[in-house]
Amino acid sequence: MKHNTAMRLKVAYLLILMTVASLVLEANGGATKYTAMYVFGDSLSDVGNNKYFIDTLAKADYLPFGIDFGGGLTAEMVGLPLLPSYADVIAKGDSILFGVNYASAGAGILRDTGYLFGHIIPFEEQINNLRKTVDQLRGKLHGNEVSKYLSNALVFVDIGANDYLNNYFRRKYYPSSHIYNLEQFADLLINLYRKHILEIQGLGLRKFLILEAPPIGCGPIRVRNMKCNATLNHAVAMFNTRLKSVVHDLGSIHPGSAFIYAPSSQLFQSLFDFAEAYGFKVKDKACCGGSDSSKRTKSMCFRNTIPCPNRNEYLYWDGAHPTEAANRILAAYIHNATYL
Ligand SMILES: *[C@@H]1O[C@H](CO)[C@@H](O)[C@H](O)[C@H]1NC(C)=O
Ligand SMILES: *[C@@H]1O[C@H](CO)[C@@H](O)[C@H](O)[C@H]1NC(C)=O
Repeated sequence: MKHNTAMRLKVAYLLILMTVASLVLEANGGATKYTAMYVFGDSLSDVGNNKYFIDTLAKADYLPFGIDFGGGLTAEMVGLPLLPSYADVIAKGDSILFGVNYASAGAGILRDTGYLFGHIIPFEEQINNLRKTVDQLRGKLHGNEVSKYLSNALVFVDIGANDYLNNYFRRKYYPSSHIYNLEQFADLLINLYRKHILEIQGLGLRKFLILEAPPIGCGPIRVRNMKCNATLNHAVAMFNTRLKSVVHDLGSIHPGSAFIYAPSSQLFQSLFDFAEAYGFKVKDKACCGGSDSSKRTKSMCFRNTIPCPNRNEYLYWDGAHPTEAANRILAAYIHNATYL
């Protein structure tokens, strides 16, 4: 059996978000249906871009990852099939017709974020891969068809958490915290983020759904006595404040494009704060490996670990990633929030 269910549990969440975005754009007078979708990000969105790298620890192409992801259900919600990873487009010639997922577990906005994991694909490289996809499209379609096709495609971006977890707060390995204070670091990330969004736009893409970086201090490996790590959440909040204003600015500078900001971090925080009310009995331990205290120090579920049987009662799947159940609720709330 091929475990291409890898990390796809996170994609269920992505695809629900696509429905959300489509409704929002519809409300704004935009297209009701996307020609394609292009996904950029980290482990919350990766569907297997790291799986062909033998020199990386940032992989999830093994069981029990994907256990709650059916594959069929969510795809029909947006009318787009499940997107192939860019790695599979290259290795197996998977179709690029409905879009491609470029996200890479461990990746960040900065080039060297996550290098401790080994081989990962930073944001900049993910965009270079999009460039290759666009070239491929130009080989298949006429020039003005390509423009039309791209302008009706949706770009989904969820990146930034690793620049804190696997860069700034890894003081032993990265100089960032010695060079920048948190304000300066957030500015550095945001300037680069903005530049990258404009590069994607420069390739002809016009519709963007941009997610906040998640409250990284609430992952089971960082929670102490039911409390999220305030230092980490504060750092990410500084980033998100800036992100929100950049997304807003981009919208006013480029009226021909749609930039939607999803307050996903705030929403997830309320899911954590009121976990019981949402039906979660456990919010401070991971479903996979959470009862074993030695494994609480790891952010990922280990190969062939038997996960908790009552997965719907856990907020977190592993030390850093939410369960499918949590993602579904989050997506529904983002849907509601993007209308406000
Ligand atoms: C919160 O995270 C920071 C950065 O990793 C760490 O230095 C600090 O000790 C943590 N605080 C608590 C209370 O765990
Ligand atoms: C959606 O948001 C409104 C306004 O905040 C709130 O009253 C309502 O309960 C929300 N609905 C859901 C399903 O979250």
